[in-house]
Amino acid sequence: TTQVKTLFRETDKYIDKVVHMSGWVRKIRDQKNFGFIELNDGTFFKGVQVVFDTNLSNFEDVAKLTIASSIIVTGKVVKSQGGGQSFEVLASEVKVVQKADAAYPLQNKRHSYEFLREIAHLRSRTNTFSAVFRVRSVLSYAIHKFFQDQGFVYVHTPIITGSDAEGAGEMFRVTTLKLDKPPRKEDGTIDASQDFFGKETNLTVSGQLNGETFCAAFRNIYTFGPTFRAENSNTSRHAAEFWMIEPEIAFADLSADMELGEAMIKYIIRYVMEQCPEEMEFFSQFVEKGLFDKLNNVLNSEFGRVTYTEAVDILQKCGKKFEYPVQWGIDLQSEHERYLAEEHFKKPVFVTDYPKDIKAFYMKLNEDGKTVRAMDLLAPGIGEIIGGSQREDNLELLEKRMKEVGLHPEEYSFYLDLRRYGSFPHAGFGLGFERMLMYVTGMTNIRDVIPFPRTPKNALF
Ligand code: 4AD
Ligand code: MG
Repeated sequence: TTQVKTLFRETDKYIDKVVHMSGWVRKIRDQKNFGFIELNDGTFFKGVQVVFDTNLSNFEDVAKLTIASSIIVTGKVVKSQGGGQSFEVLASEVKVVQKADAAYPLQNKRHSYEFLREIAHLRSRTNTFSAVFRVRSVLSYAIHKFFQDQGFVYVHTPIITGSDAEGAGEMFRVTTLKLDKPPRKEDGTIDASQDFFGKETNLTVSGQLNGETFCAAFRNIYTFGPTFRAENSNTSRHAAEFWMIEPEIAFADLSADMELGEAMIKYIIRYVMEQCPEEMEFFSQFVEKGLFDKLNNVLNSEFGRVTYTEAVDILQKCGKKFEYPVQWGIDLQSEHERYLAEEHFKKPVFVTDYPKDIKAFYMKLNEDGKTVRAMDLLAPGIGEIIGGSQREDNLELLEKRMKEVGLHPEEYSFYLDLRRYGSFPHAGFGLGFERMLMYVTGMTNIRDVIPFPRTPKNALF
């Protein structure tokens, strides 16, 4: 069989040749004595135009085919007469594998993204979602390639954990206890010691803490896996289950961390533009006008760098009325992040050295005693895409900080051991994979870049 992708990419080689193809009917239209089928074979987001006529022994059956039917086609590739396509296939044989039920929901018209989300099991057959999910696949490969080419070790961190890596308490519990009558201690509280693991466990919010242990062994490592957050934020940029890439680098500080993040983002954008030219062209025409200008600007500019304190100053002096007033110490809201990335810097910008009280316990304290060596990368149109930091490598300071935020150091002894046995300066970050994919494709809702999204009140199969 010949792949549709190959036909599109190397059309000249196939003109006047006979090809065999198999796939599904994406569109069909028939006149009295002939008709057209758009055949999707899964190798390309566009389908190929198949022309059939009464020379087919089963012409009547083919003319009555429904959308989604599976077929096997033999035919000759010819230059196309009509516009739209440069070539088409004149069928000499069309075998019907299965005629699809006529109730197939994806009939020939524009469907809203909202409607398509309800049929997540079928939407990947449309050209838009076919393009999104192929780019998702290529983007994940690009990430592995970027790190592997530099000798980073890929570590699989656990999905079920006993610790809260971010200390934010936004975890999904994992339990085998019966919800209706869980075992209770004398004081009436649930007795987690009788649970499967003998203690409370949850789905991981980040692989970082485990990743750091591998950093102390392999120097440069990365994770790439699913993470789970029970934040009840029903926004277009939050999912309860999302994938994160978390590199961790040894004998490195915050500026090395930012350099790594910037190099990675540029590499993976370039990789996708090279490997998926047709999909990217499609996005730039139908999803985000100006997509190429945006991405080329990212590739050709040096990302901005500004401290939190300077950013607060910029926001206070810019003369813009924000809904949420700007004051040193606040967590930057998305309106502030948007202003910085979209209006002030007009390119991705790293904001560094945040107040310690709004950041996680593991970040290294600065000499001023009130800020930490944190960095967030803000991207125009998306907001925070990366969050990272240099880690606290001093045992006493880390223990003190954990107690301040209400964590029990004895539960994190594995983590503290890294500061006992050969402590070293190290840094890392987390890239939200879906946010990166939104940035590259121009898709504006995280639900439309995840095959089967999980968001509040929504976990379809
Ligand atoms: O800033 P976050 O919380 O950082 C961490 O988890 C650190 N442990 C990373 C590290 O230093 N190793 O999350 C990192 C990124 C965010 O910048 C964002 O892109 C993404 O993960 N993210 C989400 N993406 C989708 N849905 C959510 N609910 C997300 N929460 C965070
Ligand atoms: Mg963050």
